[in-house]
Amino acid sequence: MPDVFTYRLSSRSGPMSVEDYRYLAKRELPSMVWAFIEYGAEDLITLDANRNAFSRYALRTKVLTGERVKGTEVMLGGERLSLPVLLAPAGLVGLAHWTGELGAAQAAERAGTVSVLSTASTYTLEEVAGGTERDHFFQLYPWTDPTTGRYDLTHLLIKRARDAGFTGLFVTVDIQAHGNREGERKNGMGNPPVLTPARIASAAIRPAWWAALLKHRRYTTRILNELAEGESALRGVELQTRMLGADLTWDDFSWVRDHWSGPVFVKGILDADDAERAVALGADGVVVSNHGGRQLDGAVASLDALPAIAARIGDRATVLMDGGIRRGSDVVKALCLGADAVCIGRPYIYGAAVYGPAGVQHVIEILREEIVRVLTLMGVSRLDELGPSWLTPADAPV
Ligand code: FNR
Repeated sequence: MPDVFTYRLSSRSGPMSVEDYRYLAKRELPSMVWAFIEYGAEDLITLDANRNAFSRYALRTKVLTGERVKGTEVMLGGERLSLPVLLAPAGLVGLAHWTGELGAAQAAERAGTVSVLSTASTYTLEEVAGGTERDHFFQLYPWTDPTTGRYDLTHLLIKRARDAGFTGLFVTVDIQAHGNREGERKNGMGNPPVLTPARIASAAIRPAWWAALLKHRRYTTRILNELAEGESALRGVELQTRMLGADLTWDDFSWVRDHWSGPVFVKGILDADDAERAVALGADGVVVSNHGGRQLDGAVASLDALPAIAARIGDRATVLMDGGIRRGSDVVKALCLGADAVCIGRPYIYGAAVYGPAGVQHVIEILREEIVRVLTLMGVSRLDELGPSWLTPADAPV
């Protein structure tokens, strides 16, 4: 791989925030790809709610404390992270930039954190493990064979993840059906994509993106395609459809737990009873998440679901959250409400779209700088000082 980490961000007018990256990413990508990354389900109520939830809280401050920030490190799933931010699993990142999930994992590593590789990745487990130094995490969509009820393919997948050296497992449980992402479909993003002259033109006017796509061919779910090769009648796309697990139960989660010796996190929890159940069945933690507003439109904002879940399991298990994190102050608010760390999804994909892995790394560095600045301005020196008392409703007198 060429040195994709050389920053091209020399001018002062380069992107300074996640929002800057969002703006630039939209310009870089064909409309179909942008719609796939950016949209949520139906009327985008939950997508917007994820963002808006943060502005309902104000940060409190203590001045003249004479304290400097002592560090932003956290331990998570046996890994020491230099900041409380991980890269969330996202499928088809190769559409945003040909370096895809591998480049993102390398960028996470350079920034001192980890990424979670999606089952729907455009790079294989072995490619990502082979191209990175540290242990990363794998996200699993568990599924059973509808006719036999057997876990053969899931078993194969977790064995491969283990053999490749992935340590933590994120089990995503919120895709009982495909989210109704109308924005995505209206822009032709489907399987196969619906191409119109306008959509082809939108790709053609981005010749560098187009050439990289054709050259590196990172536009399919490699992991699933490879699994499908073992089953003559199936193709990767069909496997993906079968992964939708309306018939999955907690027994299926227990099966996964029994077959993975490392840390396991259940991703897509919005209910404190569910969180409790996950922990009772051996989960090391949960990810409070509504899949970035891409699944159930009208579902509660992740930040709003967080306090009750943290109150219920936070003393025994790890609590992660994702959805709508765009600023260091958002990370700090989530930590105040009980998260041990957060995951980001779209922000690093914007980074990838603009500058490849260098952009992903820059997005993480932006968040790190913002976190440190926010803590300094609040008068907080250590992350473990954060708690609900540092927040107040945004529109209430203090
Ligand atoms: C996702 N997400 C996701 N989650 C998962 O468990 N497996 C997956 O394959 C994917 N794929 C995926 C693709 C794209 C393009 C996006 C934007 C998201 C959801 C992701 O892990 C995370 O929950 C959200 O992205 C968090 O919200 P923000 O940070 O994007 O607001």
